[in-house]
Amino acid sequence: MDRLLTLKVHRFDPHRELTRWTETFQIQPWGRMNLLEALLRIQEEIDGSLSFRYSCRGAVCGSCAMRVNGQVVLACRTPVKNLLGKTTLVEPLPNFPVIRDLIVDMSAFFNHYREIEPSLQGRPLEPLSENRMGEEERKEIDPYINCILCGICYGVCPAFERDVQFLGPAMLAKAYRFLADSRDERFQEILEAVDSQKGLWGCNTVFQCVRICPKEVPPTLGIVKMRRKLLRHRLASLIRRLPSFIFPLL
Ligand code: FES
Repeated sequence: MDRLLTLKVHRFDPHRELTRWTETFQIQPWGRMNLLEALLRIQEEIDGSLSFRYSCRGAVCGSCAMRVNGQVVLACRTPVKNLLGKTTLVEPLPNFPVIRDLIVDMSAFFNHYREIEPSLQGRPLEPLSENRMGEEERKEIDPYINCILCGICYGVCPAFERDVQFLGPAMLAKAYRFLADSRDERFQEILEAVDSQKGLWGCNTVFQCVRICPKEVPPTLGIVKMRRKLLRHRLASLIRRLPSFIFPLL
């Protein structure tokens, strides 16, 4: 009996009289089964209407984020071996409206993604020339490049829970990735885009997103670094505007 996997799954169907309920499924798992595979088995063998998102099955596409016993995880990266012999609660990714069962509406997330304009915008290059970056600079942006847009950080972010207008951890991390890239010409533009309560200043710096990220992206660090850059930038422009008799050398 201990080898059975028992999943208590959140169900939601807006077309039923009782729209929200939980349903318990039991299956016999195989040795290295993960939660996504368990859900697929249930869908194939027990209830074909069970709905959830997935694509790559290998922690790359970011589409299988959900909450398991209160922890937000990627289902395809969650082995079931530690869940055997007890009931495991499986719920949708928090802080997003539910569309069906474990599927949430990520519109707010991807609207913020578009706001950030997440593509390199640099100078046009001469033919056969290169726009190189230094090793140190590459090391600085590397952790931020790893984001797979799973939205897990939004599921644990108190600022996004309060206000969906908050740009959120993944998008602020993305903004820092381009701000720290010397090939991108939008330094000032990016700083101005995130200089608001719905941007840098809305973050509670509780580091929940850093703790939970399955790809070890550190959004809060990027936010803190951008805050420092912004303050330095403001101070520099203030000093530049001071009358020259105060700072004759400027
Ligand atoms: S299915 Fe792609 S990240 Fe899990």
